[in-house]
Amino acid sequence: MCGIIGYIGKDQALPVLINGLRRMEYRGYDSAGVAVINDGTTAVTKRSGKIANLATALDTRPLTGHTGIGHTRWATHGAPTELNAHPHQAGHVTIVHNGIIENYVALKATLTAAGATFASDTDTEVLARLIESETKTHKSLEAAVLAALLQVEGTFGLVVLDDRHPDTVVAARRGSPLLLGLTPEATYIASDATAIIGYTDRVVYLDDDEIAVCRPGSYAVIDFEAKAKEHEEVEIKLELAAIEKSGYDHFLLKEIMEQPRTIADTLRGRLDLENGTSHLGGLNLPPDYYQTISRFLTVACGTAYYSGLLGKLFIERMTGLPVDVEVASEFRYRNPVVVTNTLGMVVSQSGETADTLASLREMKRRGISTLGLVNVVGSSVAREVDGGVYLHAGPEISVASTKAYTSQVLAQILVGLQIGRARSLSITEGKAIVQALQDLPAQVQSVLDQRDKIKAIAKKLAHLNSAMYLGRDTLFPVALEGALKLKECAYVHAEAYPAGELKHGPIALVDDNLLVVFLHPKTALYDKSQSSLEQIRARGGQLMIVGTEGDQSLTDFTDNVIYIPEANPYTLPLLANIPLQLFAYYVACERGTDVDQPRNLAKSVTVE
Ligand code: F6R
Repeated sequence: MCGIIGYIGKDQALPVLINGLRRMEYRGYDSAGVAVINDGTTAVTKRSGKIANLATALDTRPLTGHTGIGHTRWATHGAPTELNAHPHQAGHVTIVHNGIIENYVALKATLTAAGATFASDTDTEVLARLIESETKTHKSLEAAVLAALLQVEGTFGLVVLDDRHPDTVVAARRGSPLLLGLTPEATYIASDATAIIGYTDRVVYLDDDEIAVCRPGSYAVIDFEAKAKEHEEVEIKLELAAIEKSGYDHFLLKEIMEQPRTIADTLRGRLDLENGTSHLGGLNLPPDYYQTISRFLTVACGTAYYSGLLGKLFIERMTGLPVDVEVASEFRYRNPVVVTNTLGMVVSQSGETADTLASLREMKRRGISTLGLVNVVGSSVAREVDGGVYLHAGPEISVASTKAYTSQVLAQILVGLQIGRARSLSITEGKAIVQALQDLPAQVQSVLDQRDKIKAIAKKLAHLNSAMYLGRDTLFPVALEGALKLKECAYVHAEAYPAGELKHGPIALVDDNLLVVFLHPKTALYDKSQSSLEQIRARGGQLMIVGTEGDQSLTDFTDNVIYIPEANPYTLPLLANIPLQLFAYYVACERGTDVDQPRNLAKSVTVE
């Protein structure tokens, strides 16, 4: 979703801005722009479409100056046109904004009545005009910004320039992330740490309802009552290589291929084979609490939600406790029954998903303990939960989530293991799970090694416009996730069913135009699934099967068989998911879609 970068320092601002915008391209956007102050005026250049369009325009007419802001916009109010792109200007004030100003219609009416005119359809231009009007009665830029924000309902990550204050950039946050990057000579402002990697590793995360006044090499933070706030500077451990393609054609493929390492990183230092358990330092739950938990409640969106559906099956088996899993956008607006001693779990790659964050706040309002299973360090979810587990999967740049999904499931297994062992899970079973987790990176590698075969199958099946993914038990959530990957990456209609549901309706769809991805490794339900496979073959469905190494009988059904190693029930679904990730990737390449930034999608959905 939208990205913000700002710079004030000794260097030219423009290269920093363009570099920062490029680093945030992965978030999804449809227009981009920059503004730089020079000699008492702020010059703005913006373009619809890709940053390359903006960069070409700036090549012919570069902007010079040491103070500037940049933005990638994902359209919410108004079409993705150049006019609606940010930055927006009102007189001497120029702003970039992430989030939504909910009362912008009322604000616009008041400003219009006072004589203001508007060029764009955006809520952001209204905010720019509001700030500009407040500069007439407030001496400092931060006071004007504060006065304007006190009238605003909604969310904002906001950065403001004023021609008349070239030595100051003001940033403000409510519900949309912003951080400051610090060096002795410069201050960077960004909505995403990837934008400033390589410039500095010292950052300050702004909290909601805070305003930062940034100057070259210094900053001050105030709250919405204009009181000074102290902030801890933290070190971010991100390397440039982590946000580069490292020789791969796409980030998606890179992130799929690096899973043996990211799995090891998620598990590192957390497994205890001797006691058949895990050690998670950050849960912040007293050990006697484990005995009093009555149920778990997992809330998440999209892929993270599907990881929750799989995590539910594992955690219920390990702890003997019920696990409810809810889509965050639904949970936040209904009257969910949250019984005493429920442990809330919030699963999120970005830690910024608006619905997930709102659900977390709802859980806290209801007084339950919350855990965050989050990838992005310092993100809003990570900072608001009572405790949690960082995924340590590294930056996930491709919009479609792959390695983070795997780590989300692993983090849930680790939570289930620690709480399960404190309750009813036997040491024998605990040890078997730990051993399986330790074996997982090598097993995943063995599936990844079959990528050429998966590519060939994808080439054969890529012309099909509709797909059904089938699996039972723990393989049903994997089927859901596999279908989502195909939809997102290849724009192929795909749905998923528990295989046993086939005869209750979806079998009507099966003919030789339907791709059926059948998850059929050796599990306790293998024989039960066999009849569904027969029914699909009888109706001419185009099969691709994921089966267990050595199961030659599958080739009677189709040549499109991908084998995964035999595995423990807790790791088998993760292995079965790997071919589905690669399949979606190769079908997407075959169909020529924008693999890393699929149309209409954003990486981090920070608006409702
Ligand atoms: C799918 C995908 C989305 C996200 C969802 C939640 O590939 O990326 O469905 O999983 O938007 O995002 P996070 O995990 O950042 O909360």
